[in-house]
Amino acid sequence: MAANQTEGAWDLGGRGLSNIDLIPHGPNRQEIKLGNKQSKLSDTEYYPSHTGIDFYHRYKEDIALLAEMGLKVFRTSISWSRIYPNGDEETPNQAGIDYYTDLFKTCRAHNMELLVTLAHFDIPMGIVEQYNGWKNRETINLYVKFAETCFEYFGAYVNYWIPFNEINVVLHSPFSGGGLTFDETENKEAVLYQAAHYMLVASARAVESCHRITPQAKIGCMIAGGSFYPYSCNPEDVWQSMNDERTNTFFVDVQAKGKYPYYMDAFFKAKGLNIDIESDKEILKETVDFVAFSYYASRTSIADISRVEKNEGNIIVSAKNPYLKMSDWGWVIDPLGLRITMNQIYERFEKPLFVVENGLGAKDVVEVDGTIQDDYRIDYMQQHFQAMYDGIKDGVPLLGYISWGIIDLVSASTGEMSKRYGMIYVDKDNAGNGTLERKKKKSVDWYKQVIQRNGIEIQLI
Ligand code: BG6
Repeated sequence: MAANQTEGAWDLGGRGLSNIDLIPHGPNRQEIKLGNKQSKLSDTEYYPSHTGIDFYHRYKEDIALLAEMGLKVFRTSISWSRIYPNGDEETPNQAGIDYYTDLFKTCRAHNMELLVTLAHFDIPMGIVEQYNGWKNRETINLYVKFAETCFEYFGAYVNYWIPFNEINVVLHSPFSGGGLTFDETENKEAVLYQAAHYMLVASARAVESCHRITPQAKIGCMIAGGSFYPYSCNPEDVWQSMNDERTNTFFVDVQAKGKYPYYMDAFFKAKGLNIDIESDKEILKETVDFVAFSYYASRTSIADISRVEKNEGNIIVSAKNPYLKMSDWGWVIDPLGLRITMNQIYERFEKPLFVVENGLGAKDVVEVDGTIQDDYRIDYMQQHFQAMYDGIKDGVPLLGYISWGIIDLVSASTGEMSKRYGMIYVDKDNAGNGTLERKKKKSVDWYKQVIQRNGIEIQLI
């Protein structure tokens, strides 16, 4: 789960305004997320992050439900502006520290490991407005202070950390991914790659701090994963798929191998981008312990996308793959793609992997008897577990799997509640109405059995 999609309580406990609080549900959402339109809070818009699923007030009951399912690891993120409301305070906000301390203690009391993302599409608006956010090198210092505060206060409970959720998303959704907006005078690509670089430096410094402050913990990196298939055997399509893969994955080269891959030099030169990287070469050598990724779908690359029907999966637009079925939201369903992605990432980086997001966003129906028969979700998960099992048999070391989002939460792309990922239903609609009551779906019992058997015998079920 992610703080911005679940906690709500956006103005409680001393929390400051975050970029995500300015992203409404509805027609203005996309342009604001992309950074093409500035957002100011308005009474006529509905902002899903303000209330989320009210996890802030309900975490004890929610964690108890997850423990009942046998969950061994809980993933969430820390809202940066709950710890440093403006982003540049001298000392952290005690109410924020207390909240996460109690949340993490609750998880540990239920014998759950914690995997915590420091920034999941989240940056205090104080940093965006007063420092220009990730456009400014100074933001690295503010982030490192936040990261070190988290390691110091929460290091006793958390064994797995991720500096940024899907760091590569900043290139595709700049305001939600990194609080970036653009004005007409700016070279957008230069801004994006410079900001991405500062995030990579911040990540490397967080790795150094984590290893020093809480040495028993492991710290990884994370991208929005999913291999890029060539649309055809036309070499132009193969070359396109190779380049798409590179743009998506160079982040991991930096975080796991400690340097930009050779082709980024030529890439920056070809685009005329002069990115301020040189002085950071030493710090980038602080590399991660594991490579995490989200997997929802593979992508399909074609040299000329205007020739074919497009498909928009998790943020990245690609060609529609004629061999694959799609979810209710048009994301392709490709279990074998998970095995392929696991193998490709491991072959390239040779670090243990962690699948930290995977699941089906679907329309669930509450039957008259109150049950939710989500057999399609069971089917999706079963196929993906088989693929992971095959990947493990191929020899890929996999530290763990975390399903997204276990409890229904606000969709990051659309802001809807009706795009449901959970095995636990939350009574809330797209306009924010509902009792917020939690209800177990059919998949809960199935997943409980999978966990009990450690997933290994899943093919026998
Ligand atoms: C990932 C994000 O990109 O995909 C999550 O890390 C997000 O925050 C998930 O919720 C699913 O995407 P969506 O848009 O369906 O919520």
